[in-house]
Amino acid sequence: MPSYEKSKELHERASRVLAGGVSSEFRRFSTPHPLFYAKGQGNRIVDVDGNEFLDFTLSQGPLILGHSHPEVLAAVAKASADGQLFAGQHLLELELAERLNRIIPCAELMRFSLSGSEADHAAIRVARAVTGRDKFLRFEGHYHGWLDEMAQGIGGAAELLGPRERPNVISWTKGLPAGNDRNCLLLPWNDLGLVEATVQQHAHELAAIITEPVMCNSGCIPPDAPSAFLRGLREICDRYDIALIFDEVITGFRLALGGAQEYYGVTPDLAVFGKAMASGYPISVLCGRKRFMQPIADGTVIHAGTMNSGQPSVAAALATLNVLERDRVHERLFALGQRLMWGLRNVACDPVTLEPVPILLQGPGPMFHAGFTPLEKARDYRDTLRYDKPRYARFVAAMQERGIRLIGRGLWYISAAHTEADVDHAISVAGDVFSRMADGN
Ligand SMILES: Cc1ncc(COP(=O)(O)O)c(C=O)c1O
Repeated sequence: MPSYEKSKELHERASRVLAGGVSSEFRRFSTPHPLFYAKGQGNRIVDVDGNEFLDFTLSQGPLILGHSHPEVLAAVAKASADGQLFAGQHLLELELAERLNRIIPCAELMRFSLSGSEADHAAIRVARAVTGRDKFLRFEGHYHGWLDEMAQGIGGAAELLGPRERPNVISWTKGLPAGNDRNCLLLPWNDLGLVEATVQQHAHELAAIITEPVMCNSGCIPPDAPSAFLRGLREICDRYDIALIFDEVITGFRLALGGAQEYYGVTPDLAVFGKAMASGYPISVLCGRKRFMQPIADGTVIHAGTMNSGQPSVAAALATLNVLERDRVHERLFALGQRLMWGLRNVACDPVTLEPVPILLQGPGPMFHAGFTPLEKARDYRDTLRYDKPRYARFVAAMQERGIRLIGRGLWYISAAHTEADVDHAISVAGDVFSRMADGN
């Protein structure tokens, strides 16, 4: 059993000055308490107690090349030495924009920000400006950042969700102004018939449909059949002149260099990328077709930010893209992820009865989701609510004890720094954990 004594002390100290002892809500939930980390290198992360973990959290996705990739660090060091922020333009920023313009199908024009949340917020603003309408449609179980208008329609216990055809828009947090939900329409994911019917009724007031192209934040559920759902959304948006927004904060640079829009062959009007873009340095991009980005270009829609497109982050993004392209990283991410899912399925059985442990592994491979459920497939958020989450929490804690770090809500991320040996090791450790859990531990 690893010791977490130094982390415990630091967490207690942190709780006196950092609210909840952390700087992001999602960091609260590690066991036995939030851990303090000292170093990340390649596929490993080491905590202050000296415990070393094979890391499948990748800092919730950004570390697509693993921790501390030398080419990224060298690019950041050089760019930092040349200056950090100019409150003005710089060449690297232009080079990054030209590069993204080449690789992302919808990226005719773009603007850089720091986080996915901000860029999602800007996407809705732009869609409103272009269409002259206020409402947006989103889907249960999708996450589009933590800002007010997006902090609703996510989460919520099964009994609060209301009828499937007309789900309740539930607030995720206190502190939202009254009426915050007035512009949000909410539907289950992957049901084109419901989208069609809802849009018909609300087309005159709908500015945008926003969706993760793969529902990474709940169950890592792909679009139906396999891209008919996304194509259907595209057709509906075209028919009613509604902006189609892909939130590619997770899928971006991970499913393909050009994101899910390249992978599925469906081009949105606007898209948001973040996370894996710069290997952990803060940058996001809102990009889109000229017509939709024009209001920002001509200054009728304001987008701003003191810290936007700082040299080190931009340099990190360029270096990350160089490695992704040069080393054909995506083939590797798919192969490793699928090997891992396949292996986990194989070892998930009770060693005595040889009955399979009811685990569902779902997702394309570069990221995937694991959850305990007898379902053979999850289609929407409501399906994921039937997963046995306490059992998964026990699984994550047991994996951590054996040196494997996972995200508590079930998502696994693969990086270019993982190897077949790492994957096979994780499978074998999981097999051990499954057999102990079958004994009721
Ligand atoms: C799909 C999606 N959109 C937006 C966000 C928000 O991005 P950020 O945390 O950079 O604000 C996230 C974060 O996890 C995300 O997964």
